[in-house]
Amino acid sequence: MTTGGGETVRPPNRDSTVGKGKGGPITWKSLTVTGVIGGGLLIFMLYVKGEKEKAIAAERRRMIGKAAIGGPFELVNHSGKKVSSQDFLGQWLLIYFGFTHCPDICPEEMEKLVEVTNQLDKDTEPLNVQPLFITVDPERDTPKVVADYVKEFSPRLIGLTGTKEQVGKACKAYRVYFSSGPKDDDNDYIVDHTIIIYLVSPDGEFLDYYGQNRNAKEIADSVRLNAKKFEDLHGKSWLANPFGPRSMIISSSVSPSGQGN
Ligand SMILES: *[C@@H]1O[C@H](CO)[C@@H](O)[C@H](O)[C@H]1NC(C)=O
Repeated sequence: MTTGGGETVRPPNRDSTVGKGKGGPITWKSLTVTGVIGGGLLIFMLYVKGEKEKAIAAERRRMIGKAAIGGPFELVNHSGKKVSSQDFLGQWLLIYFGFTHCPDICPEEMEKLVEVTNQLDKDTEPLNVQPLFITVDPERDTPKVVADYVKEFSPRLIGLTGTKEQVGKACKAYRVYFSSGPKDDDNDYIVDHTIIIYLVSPDGEFLDYYGQNRNAKEIADSVRLNAKKFEDLHGKSWLANPFGPRSMIISSSVSPSGQGN
C-alpha cells in the first residue's frame, strides 16, 4: 500500500514515530500553508476586482457628467473631402476651434497644440494622437484656406471646415460659442469664440478640455494620464497596476468656460 507520494505505509506496531505527520505529501502543515496562500490570493483577487469595479463606477459617474459635451460631427477636411467623427475613431483627438483670420490668440493656441503633439510624439510608446483644427468661420475658411493655414503650423495637423450648418452642429456639440463681429472697411471681421482644446478618446468620447491658461507640458501630461486611465478601464494594462485605479486622481471636470478673442 502506497500513498500518493510513493512512500510505503508501515504497519503501526513497528516504529511508532515513522510515517506520523510527515510521511505523505499532504500534511496539516502543508494544508495550512496552502490554505493561507490560497486564501491570500483569493482575498487579493477579490480586492483587485473590487478596486476595478469601483474605478469603473467612478468613471461612469464622471462620464454621465460629461455626456453633454462632444458627439458626432460631419465636416470637410482640408483636402476637400467629406469626413465624420467616425473616421477618427482609434485616435486620440486634440481639437481646437478657431478661424484663420484670427489675429493672435489662435496662432498661439495652434502653436501650443502642435507643441503638445510633438511632446507626445517623442514618448517611447507614443499615443496615436491627431490634432484637429475646426474653423468657426466657414464662410472665409474654405478647405484651401484651411489647408494653407494648418500647413504653416505643422504637417501633423488636419484642418476641418464645412457648410455653416455642419460647422454650427460641431460647435454646438462641443459647446463652442462663436459670434462674428461687424465687418470693417476691408470686409474683415473678428469671430469671438471659445478658446478651448478638447481631448477626445479613441472611442470618440470627450474626456477633458484645456483652457488658454494651460501650457503644452501640462496638457501633454494630462493626455498621458487620461490615456493611462483609459487603458486601465479598458482592460489593456490594468492588471499590471492592480493598486492604481488612477482615475481617482484625475481632476473632475466642470463645464468649459473662458471665451474671448
Ligand atoms: C481627407 O479625407 C480623405 C478621405 O477620407 C483622405 O483620403 C485624406 O487623406 C484626408 N486628408 C487629410 C488632410 O486628412
